[in-house]
Amino acid sequence: MNRATLTLDLQRRLAPVQRRMFGSFVEHLGRCVYGGIYEPGHPTADADGFRADVLALVRELGVTTVRYPGGNFVSSYRWEDGIGPRDTRPARLDLAWHSLETNEFGLDEFMRWAGKAGIEPIMAVNLGTRGVESALDLLEYANHRAGSHFADLRRSNGTEDPHGIRMWCLGNEMDGPWQVGGRSAADYGRIATQTAQAMRRFDPSLELVACGSSNSAMPTFGAWERDVLTEAYDHVDYISLHAYYHQAGDDLASFLASAEDMDRYIDSVTAIADSVGAIRRSTKKIMIAFDEWNVWYQRAEPSVPPAGEHWPTAPRLLEDRYNLADAVVVGGLLISLLRHSDRVTAACQAQLVNVIAPIMTEPGGPAWRQTIFHPFALTARHAGGVVLDGRPRGATATTDRFGVVEAVDAVATWDDQTGTGAVFLVNRSATEPAEVVIDVAGGPVDVTECLTLSDPDPYAYNAADAPDRVCPQPNDRVEHHTDGVVVTVPPVSWTVLRWMTERHEVPA
Ligand code: AHR
Repeated sequence: MNRATLTLDLQRRLAPVQRRMFGSFVEHLGRCVYGGIYEPGHPTADADGFRADVLALVRELGVTTVRYPGGNFVSSYRWEDGIGPRDTRPARLDLAWHSLETNEFGLDEFMRWAGKAGIEPIMAVNLGTRGVESALDLLEYANHRAGSHFADLRRSNGTEDPHGIRMWCLGNEMDGPWQVGGRSAADYGRIATQTAQAMRRFDPSLELVACGSSNSAMPTFGAWERDVLTEAYDHVDYISLHAYYHQAGDDLASFLASAEDMDRYIDSVTAIADSVGAIRRSTKKIMIAFDEWNVWYQRAEPSVPPAGEHWPTAPRLLEDRYNLADAVVVGGLLISLLRHSDRVTAACQAQLVNVIAPIMTEPGGPAWRQTIFHPFALTARHAGGVVLDGRPRGATATTDRFGVVEAVDAVATWDDQTGTGAVFLVNRSATEPAEVVIDVAGGPVDVTECLTLSDPDPYAYNAADAPDRVCPQPNDRVEHHTDGVVVTVPPVSWTVLRWMTERHEVPA
């Protein structure tokens, strides 16, 4: 049995919990849109063709924002193809995923869906094959009230009020050699700056995201962020980070500790952004939009795109089936993100439905929750108020990739208004259960709920015919000791423990 202690002080606060931390991502890729959120003819489809069963799961997941329409897709996308009468919309080749895009679903459909889902949109513009002009046209169409060409076009297409989109991504993964219209850092820094300056002439208060590296293993990582921000620092609010994790071979121990990599990645980009700011003597801080993160088995068969003459519409692509270990890693990545709430103020799990997704569907059939659904939904629901400073210390696990790491990782949030707190914790040991002491400044707390996601088989998964094989269960191994609350958790597990205490001052 491993042992770890998490010591919390309600006055040692890191930052407010950022609601945009619980964002997701819908790309025109595989069956994310077609057959995912949109399937006219499905028994649950509403008048707009949106699957009501999926909408219900999206709400349950607690998603706050959704980035759209890509991803690699956006870099050769013409947004105008997806507006207006459906029978006049052209079918186009999607060069990113070697698919045929029918354009049956576009901006106005997405915004209608976003309204029903209760999420804030994050819109990406094409800086691959296009540039400043098309970004401005899209902005005018989306956000201008009336009296100009694109605003009136939106109105004539049936949307009277502007969409009012606040947050915009200036391209996607522009450092990637796979990106249609990929650019050098100097080239991208310039076009991102020009696009930002032009968009701010329309609305200075827009929130703009510059592309960081596609991942921290890119050969240009670090230099890219430095060079792009040296050019664009005064014109953007965020730099993006993307990271996908998977288990390599049988190295479960390193995989379970993937959040170590995310911690270092965030800390590195923060340092680079701050060094650019310091050289400029700027008081402005660039925030981090971790706008693609997840577990993704990129080299596995579901991620091999079609090829040759075959350009299918909405093929089954990137349909990873997630197991318990994947869910524990997702829970650990959320802990890392929350721990950086002072700088990471937006994040998007990639993606939402069918494509490396917490929600899966069958055409004409059911929708169900993958294992990774659960830590996301419970963290989004119960993380509130402020993130408390403090990490558990105790038994360690040895990993090939990260060396010796804490076996238990955790983060806590505290809400002054309700007098309630939550601890989110992962046991990253592949073999040992852990006894975790949670000491809230040496005083008593009442535990109101403790749920644990675990299974004797770390590779157990959910499927259409077994949708609840892996789901959170009440954990009754919670005891009150003199040194705090003690919860016992199995190996390879994720837990949320909720508590309340009278011992706090409600702010005036
Ligand atoms: O989310 C899948 C893909 O991963 C996105 O299209 C791209 O931005 C990233 O490489």
